Amino acid sequence: MAIPPMVVRPFRPDDGPALAVLHRRAILALPDQDYSRAERKSWARGISAGGYAAAVADEELIQVALGGSAEPIAYCAHRDDSILGLCVDPDWQRHVIGRRLLQRAESMMAASGCEVARVNSSVSAAPFFVRCGYRLLGDGRHLTPGGLTVATLRLEKFIAL
Ligand SMILES: CC(C)(COP(=O)(O)OP(=O)(O)OC[C@H]1O[C@@H](n2cnc3c(N)ncnc32)[C@H](O)[C@@H]1OP(=O)(O)O)[C@@H](O)C(=O)NCCC(=O)NCCS
Repeated sequence: MAIPPMVVRPFRPDDGPALAVLHRRAILALPDQDYSRAERKSWARGISAGGYAAAVADEELIQVALGGSAEPIAYCAHRDDSILGLCVDPDWQRHVIGRRLLQRAESMMAASGCEVARVNSSVSAAPFFVRCGYRLLGDGRHLTPGGLTVATLRLEKFIAL
């Protein structure tokens, strides 16, 4: 399949509102068989437009993918050896955007000396990470901002240069 060009740039503070919208949409769109509606709502409750700038101030690196009108359609956040967030707007999923954002994050991590990339993934996204070369380590948990703890899966990938 021909892969369309994709613009990716580092996060800017004015991306916050658009990232919050796509992040909330992606969480609420997780399939019913993986997460109940109550779990998704609890997870989405902590999403705020200001949260991304605060994360960057806390040394997270966020790469943002742009759509045709230069609007944010996806982002990937990482710090040290961890992928902390990877979200593609539901309207743009399955267009290789997640894979390319993840590859970019892994390249940056490897260039800074990380040998292994780790992720505590949603159950729904774990097959995507496996397709991208990650191996399943086991069950995880995530305490969502609304107070419910949800099931996750822990994965890792060797990325050393
Ligand atoms: C998981 C997510 C980031 C994938 O992004 P995407 O852009 O849709 O994925 P891609 O198009 O790059 O897919 C890459 C490969 O993974 C596969 N894949 C993607 N999502 C998949 C899924 N849910 N189940 C199985 N395979 C999947 C694709 O078919 C493709 O396979 P290929 O190598 O055979 O072509 C996206 O679905 C998402 O944002 N999900 C909601 C948020 C989330 O759970 N994020 C992870 C939290 S850490």
